[in-house]
Amino acid sequence: MARIGILGGTFSPIHNGHIYIAKEAMEQLCFDELWFLPAGIPPHKKIRSDISPLERLTMCEVAVDALTGARVIDDEIWKRTPSYTYETLECFHQKYPQHEFFFIIGEDSLDSFHQWVKPERICELATILVATRSANIANGLLEDKVHQVEAQFHGHFQLITSEYVDVSSTMLREKLAHRESIEEYVPKGVWEYIRMHRLYEDIMGLNKDLEKEIRKELKEHLKKSRYEHTLGVTYTACALAMRYNYPLEVARFAGLLHDCAKYLSDKEQLEYCHKHRIQVTEAEEKAPYLLHAKIGAYMAQHQYKIEDEELIHAIEVHTTGCPNMSLLDKILFTADYIEPNREEAPRLEDIRGIAFQDLDKAVYMILEDSIQYVKETNRPMDPTTLESFEYYKTQLHQ
Ligand SMILES: [Fe+2]
Ligand SMILES: [Fe+2]
Repeated sequence: MARIGILGGTFSPIHNGHIYIAKEAMEQLCFDELWFLPAGIPPHKKIRSDISPLERLTMCEVAVDALTGARVIDDEIWKRTPSYTYETLECFHQKYPQHEFFFIIGEDSLDSFHQWVKPERICELATILVATRSANIANGLLEDKVHQVEAQFHGHFQLITSEYVDVSSTMLREKLAHRESIEEYVPKGVWEYIRMHRLYEDIMGLNKDLEKEIRKELKEHLKKSRYEHTLGVTYTACALAMRYNYPLEVARFAGLLHDCAKYLSDKEQLEYCHKHRIQVTEAEEKAPYLLHAKIGAYMAQHQYKIEDEELIHAIEVHTTGCPNMSLLDKILFTADYIEPNREEAPRLEDIRGIAFQDLDKAVYMILEDSIQYVKETNRPMDPTTLESFEYYKTQLHQ
């Protein structure tokens, strides 16, 4: 018989408080395994629709990865109906009759335990562990409460202590909405995942009116073929954003604006930079067409009042790439190369397929082919392209 601890929750997002409880429970009760059980549709809680079950599940998996003896169970998360604990426990008993189950709840859930569906049945199927801080046990009040609930539902309840500082998912979501870091409250991998995919962030200002205005201006200023290319990049960037789970509106605006400065001639671009004090490198001096990325980023910021730094950066590096690109940098860089109107590029078909399987590899191949093209056509080489190529070469061959 194996002893299994179960920690349920919405985990939106999972945080160090959860991890701490899991660790303490494992230690104090000598579990063979601890199961994190992310809820699908929890019966008592409203859940944000902009965070998908897959995202919550992935965050749990990332967090639990380094925790020996713990794993994530996805039995509830894909259900389309509310998850009731008694049902899940019945399922576990059927699937694993040899196991003994311990269900962990927070101290606050003790007060509402009578409102859960079939609390007696839950008590039949598992020992209930109530997680609290040791300071809360000192005065005996909590133990009295536990005894009351235990008697009411004929269950077996036990207190476990966890000393982790106060942290709640609600507080973390609020911080993230304001683009504040929550690095200190979540495992490293979870923070990286949230940052990369910009989860819980309120994306401001990228609305339909602005999009209309930009489309109108681009149509007026850009050559027809360039405008078609722009739309191709926009849709491809959106498709990649769907594939790699990135906010669509940001990808769409990046695509729309990436070549917004392309209507300027080489001479005009140099003049524009001079006038607006945009630094011009030696390579750009020799090949002013490279400048449209920098100028585009400047225009996005000052003319279209885009404040999203990640978006501005993606426009800025869309021709040369850069080492350690953000997810949006890579999406735009790749979309620019593979959009459906592009015809002549070696390995284009391969890169199109690979872009949807392994974005880093696609970026590497594009950089490799771009360098080859620059060499063959005797154009001046931008050192950033070479640096980016070396970076991704090392990354991929590690
Ligand atoms: Fe461009
Ligand atoms: Fe482009």
